[in-house]
Amino acid sequence: MTEKRHIGVLTGGGDCSGLNAVIRAVVRRAVGHHGWRVTGILDGTHGLLRDPPAVMDLTLDLFSGEVLRQGGTMLGAANKGDPFDYPGPDGVRSDRSQDFIKGYRALGLDGLVGVGGDGTMRILSRLSEEGGISVVGIPKTIDNDVPGTEYAVGFATAVNTAVDALDRLQPTAASHHRVMILEVMGRDAGHIAINAGIAGGADVILIPEIPYDIEKVATKIRDVLEGGRSHALMVCSEAVGTASGKAVWRPDEEGKVRYGGVGHYLGEEIHRLTGAETRVTVLGHVQRGGIPTSRDRIVASAYGVRAVDLLAEGNAGRMVGWRQHGVIDIPLRDGASGASVVDVNGALVKTARGLGICLGN
Ligand code: F6P
Repeated sequence: MTEKRHIGVLTGGGDCSGLNAVIRAVVRRAVGHHGWRVTGILDGTHGLLRDPPAVMDLTLDLFSGEVLRQGGTMLGAANKGDPFDYPGPDGVRSDRSQDFIKGYRALGLDGLVGVGGDGTMRILSRLSEEGGISVVGIPKTIDNDVPGTEYAVGFATAVNTAVDALDRLQPTAASHHRVMILEVMGRDAGHIAINAGIAGGADVILIPEIPYDIEKVATKIRDVLEGGRSHALMVCSEAVGTASGKAVWRPDEEGKVRYGGVGHYLGEEIHRLTGAETRVTVLGHVQRGGIPTSRDRIVASAYGVRAVDLLAEGNAGRMVGWRQHGVIDIPLRDGASGASVVDVNGALVKTARGLGICLGN
């Protein structure tokens, strides 16, 4: 048992499965092992910017069995809450980072565990460096694109959901002799697409890391259909864009890019070029929900424990991660520097090509 401390935990960015498992692990380790107090910050960074801060006490009795299995986050999340560029009610943006620090101090926190993607890591890293607060980051995102770690919480569940979709699409594709196109998420990286495509038996996988030639995709589909199989499966990442490289997106509430719909473009092109009947499924936010897989629960648990222990050791300013069968920690700012994308010379690309899967080039 170490000295009694008080730490906060928040879930920033978009949600995903496994966040509740992280919160549970943080509480079990901090309260159950170290004897500390844990306060949950509500709605990501927003909670500390409210006056008084919007928080909840996280006690062990809240975690009596169900939470580990639940999707979403019991604390709420926010992907538009950058305190350095915070939108006011009138839409005018201002730097409210000092208010965030004030909220942290008003609660009497000795440390903060921030769960988020690369955007959240960037914010946390600035807050820890400029505000002098003790922060440890835990990577989460279905996109799995946080640098410095092999796994972000939520990715495994999203891949399973996409594979499940392919398992459901294949029989109906076969019954109707159709080409099924499954569009999956992945803002900057094609990790979900390539993993799900290999596991789900796709004939074509398109990822943003590999520019595609639509004629080559059409040739592959023709080869499959003329080679004795009357249906085909294709997975595309939402960020692949059209054949001329134009992204398919609509502005979100703040005018920022929200991908979605390139699958429909590809469906029309494949039909135009091959004559095949095509149908498109845009999987969307289904990938962000659901019961977390065992992998996500294990990674979430390992990260939660390590994050608390880093705070106990006085090692703040770090992000936990997973590398070669174990938990590691790296400087927080290293988890905030760009996106980790699919290695075009890596094992998965080689496996896909080895299986005869067309990657569009
Ligand atoms: O970054 C995670 C992610 O789910 C992306 O895959 C997707 O493009 C985006 O978030 C969707 O964001 P929102 O929840 O704002 O629609």
